[in-house]
This record gives sequence, C-alpha cells and structure tokens, in this order.
Amino acid sequence: MEVLIRDNSETGCVLGAKIIARVVREKPDAVLGLATGRTPQRLYQELIRQHCEEGLDFSRVTTFNLDEYVGLPAAHVQSYHFFMRENLFRHVNIDPKRTHVPDGTAPDLHAECRDYEKRIEAAGGIDLQLLGLGRNGHIGFNEPTGSLRSRTWVKILSEQTLRDNSAVFGSLADMPKHALTMGIGTILEARRVLLLAFGPPKARAVEQMVEGPLCAICPGSALQQHPRATVIVDEASAAGLHYADHYRWIDSHKLAWQRHD
Ligand code: F6R
Repeated sequence: MEVLIRDNSETGCVLGAKIIARVVREKPDAVLGLATGRTPQRLYQELIRQHCEEGLDFSRVTTFNLDEYVGLPAAHVQSYHFFMRENLFRHVNIDPKRTHVPDGTAPDLHAECRDYEKRIEAAGGIDLQLLGLGRNGHIGFNEPTGSLRSRTWVKILSEQTLRDNSAVFGSLADMPKHALTMGIGTILEARRVLLLAFGPPKARAVEQMVEGPLCAICPGSALQQHPRATVIVDEASAAGLHYADHYRWIDSHKLAWQRHD
C-alpha cells in the first residue's frame, strides 16, 4: 500500500481530487468507482472547482457507486443516488446515463446485484475506485467477518454502522438495516484503489487496515492484496500507525513520476 499522510482532511481531499483528476485527464473515458459519506465531500468540491475553473471534463466519464440503502428511492434525501446528484453529478458535465448507483428499490435485489456486476464488466472494469473507511474497518458496506472475495450483494449493516450513520436519519429506527454493496472481490478488481480516512475515530481502523493482518475482521485489510492501492490519511487518523515515519520517508523520496503533488 502507498500511505500518504497529510496535515488534515483538507489537504488530503485536495490531493485525492488531484489523483482522480489526473486519471480523467489521461483517460477522458475513464470509469470511476465512487463513494458517499462525509469523507469524500470536500474531494468532490475540489473536482467541481477543477471542472468550473480548469475545464476538467466529465462528459465521457462513467461512474459506478459502491452502495445504496435497500428501500430508499433515488429521490429520498438520504439515498446515495441523491447524495451523488447533490454533491457531484449536477455540478459537472457528466452524462446522467453514464452514472450508476445500485437500485435499492429493485423488485428483485439479487438480480439487481448480478446486473450491477455485468454493467461494470460491460464498461470495461473500473479504472479507479474511491473508498472511505468505516470505524469498524468496513469498505463499501462490507462489514467485519464478511467474505474477502464477495461480489455485489445485499448486506446487513452492523450495529456500529447503524450508530455511525443514523444521525442523518433522525433515529436508528428510521434507518435501513440493509444495503446493496459492491463486494470486496468487486472492489479488488478495480485497476487502482484510492482510500481516504480522516479524524481520530478512524485511527484504529487505519492501523488495522494498513499494519494489521489480512483478515475478514477488518475488511479494509483486503486492500493489502491490491497491486495499486493508495491510502490518504491525516495526522489524526494516522496516530496509531507504527511505521508512520517509514511512510513519510518513502513519500519524501519518490521519483518525479511517482509523486502526486
Ligand atoms: C460509502 C461507503 C462507506 C463509507 C464509510 C465511511 O459509500 O461505502 O464505506 O465510506 O462508512 O463513511 P464516512 O465517510 O461518512 O465516515
């Protein structure tokens, strides 16, 4: 894993946006895997700024989101369809027909999951998958102890995830308990993976993901097997890393073509 430690989430998100923008500039018809949640919001703002001020062109880009809550229609304010529209899609020149989010209201959820995998394959696979990290180490909605080779499927949210995400729903009772999510096997097939995690609540999960053993109790640790995974953390979420000085050393001795900023 390439571990990049930045001062705070602001500089981390700007760096993440730079990495994604470079992928889009080098391959205008890139396929991006996208995430929702608090973590990538600032990154999306930076992509929007680059679109408005620097002409970053999304017209040929295709996107696949990681997940969606079961039962929430696209118009629901807490749906991930809604999140993506509000936080990115409606601010850039992306073709809505090229944006994909699993349909949590599909009459046959299993068929929807299988179809989602087929759509990713038909698009030529994902060039870069953006990820956040749950406090319990989840990626997408792949919760601890799930298979490290899972495919897009219906998953049951853990109690920790329900607690972490329920605030926006008003109460735990109002929050969906199930979600459709790309599996870890699906995520690992992306040609490149970029994970962001910020703040003290993520420190333990970051430490387990980067330096712990590869194990299903920390789904993020599966990224240790990915040939091209970049992890951007801030000082707070890096607090538990034993080899932080090593990551900084590597980062400061990169050759010009290996640098991101
Ligand atoms: C979101 C997703 C989740 C979040 C994770 C962190 O699409 O798949 O894995 O990335 O729960 O959420 P935040 O960023 O809100 O801390």
